[in-house]
Amino acid sequence: MRHLIGIEDLTNEEIDNLIATAEDIIANPDKYAEVCKRKKLATLFYEPSTRTRLSFESAMIELGGSVIGFSEAQSSSAAKGESVADTAKVISCFADIMVMRHFKEGAPMVASLNSTIPVINAGDGGHNHPTQTLTDLLTIKREKGRLDNLVVGLCGDLKFGRTVHSLISAMARYKNVKFVLISPDELKIPDYIKHDVLERNGIEYIETASLEDAMPNIDILYMTRVQRERFFNEQDYIRLKDSYILTPEKLDNAKSDLAILHPLPRVNEISVAIDKDPRACYFRQVLNGKYIRMALIKFLLEAKNEG
Ligand code: NCD
Repeated sequence: MRHLIGIEDLTNEEIDNLIATAEDIIANPDKYAEVCKRKKLATLFYEPSTRTRLSFESAMIELGGSVIGFSEAQSSSAAKGESVADTAKVISCFADIMVMRHFKEGAPMVASLNSTIPVINAGDGGHNHPTQTLTDLLTIKREKGRLDNLVVGLCGDLKFGRTVHSLISAMARYKNVKFVLISPDELKIPDYIKHDVLERNGIEYIETASLEDAMPNIDILYMTRVQRERFFNEQDYIRLKDSYILTPEKLDNAKSDLAILHPLPRVNEISVAIDKDPRACYFRQVLNGKYIRMALIKFLLEAKNEG
């Protein structure tokens, strides 16, 4: 049984194939309209979501399948004290594939160990968010035409931002990708990513607090929201929340073909004045999320049938 718990569950070739399938879906949507006929996707969301849950739902519907699920823990048996393991066993009786977002790191992994259907991690605490990363990779591929030879600037909450952790792990696999990690001291990238992903693989990176200094050298700017829900105290959040606000003036010394990404939701970190700049990719990125999730659902259901 194949699951997607972390981006490391996919080989480079499988990622390339998912991107190629997503591009084919974009070009020939009708070809895929019945791929998941009579199949059900279950969405188990214990944490808030707009894009991730609705993109999975529309992905399944566009593949001809249907969707069941819940969008808050309080409306599920979690409120009565049911364990993730038991819920996974139950959902395995109803659906063909499940997507889980949970505030606890590792919850989708626990679900996968207790499930007889594929489990997709749609974000676990401050840990990983592999389907956002697939979305980001498809976006970078479509915007820049390549995934190698890039300088990737990641800016904001690199400590709690799960999308950042998964994206670094994925981009680190491509040739000549360098990272500029832009954050306040308190929100620096966790040591395990620095040591196990970057240093172990000899990947070039710098850490800086200055977005202005980083700007002229980067090809991709990945902005992130300060993750309020992961802070232990509100005072720290208030102090750090506006560390970076991207305004048109700050792009004065940026490359003309910079690609600005953001997993969204945005709070304050990108001024709405940037939205009309052709370098702003974040709303195109949202749509890419639907296509790559179509490709992923198709892939995991096919792998299940072959198994
Ligand atoms: C991200 C998440 O949930 O981690 N959102 C998303 O899925 N697009 C980013 C965030 O919440 O800041």
